[in-house]
Amino acid sequence: MAEDIQTRADCEQLVRAFYGRALTDPVIGWLFTDVAKLDLEAHVPRLTRFWETILLGAQSYGGGAFRPHLELNSKAQLRKGHFDRWLYLWDTTVDELFSGPHADLAKAHAHRVAQAFELRLRSFEQQQDPLAVPGLPIVQQYGRGSREP
Ligand code: HEM
Ligand code: HEM
Repeated sequence: MAEDIQTRADCEQLVRAFYGRALTDPVIGWLFTDVAKLDLEAHVPRLTRFWETILLGAQSYGGGAFRPHLELNSKAQLRKGHFDRWLYLWDTTVDELFSGPHADLAKAHAHRVAQAFELRLRSFEQQQDPLAVPGLPIVQQYGRGSREP
């Protein structure tokens, strides 16, 4: 039986294992590598602080997690399928490495944050999308790069 998440090193291990999968994932990997051009070594300490704040009460994370997702979403729309895939990779990574109340909280909190982020992105789009004029037909756009003309 795996141990629970108990130290900062555990948080970092989890974050690194997750990004090892996310960056090469066929569904969401390109968002990190091609669109955001993620600097993993700069990102890992921030994510480690985020998770040690939530799971271990460290208060080392300064907040503002939503903004980079808003910026990313303006380059390539983050859809429900992307969040679902993110959460699937997160849950399976957590389950393979850890088990216990902190592991459960890591999964539960990620689902809450994902849902909140997705709702916030959609509400920003409704305010800012110049096509969102009453009376115009709703145009569905699909796929990668769909926000480019
Ligand atoms: C153990 C207690 C908790 C801690 C330490 C904690 C910590 C945090 C932190 C650090 C963030 C990031 C905030 C930011 O980016 O500025 C966050 C976001 C969030 N938390 Fe928690 N949280 C806790 C419990 C909860 C609970 C119980 C809920 C809901 C039932 C919740 C729902 C959320 C949501 C929805 C967000 C995303 C907010 C957004 O849209 O940016 N959290 N939390
Ligand atoms: C499709 C889903 C997602 C994608 C593509 C994505 C991608 C990214 C990218 C590109 C960054 C910015 C990295 C940088 O350049 O600094 C970032 C930051 C971050 N993401 Fe996500 N993310 C997703 C979902 C989530 C979820 C569900 C969570 C909730 C746990 C989350 C938590 C964070 C946090 C805490 C940061 C750091 C913010 C800061 O700089 O303080 N992400 N994400």
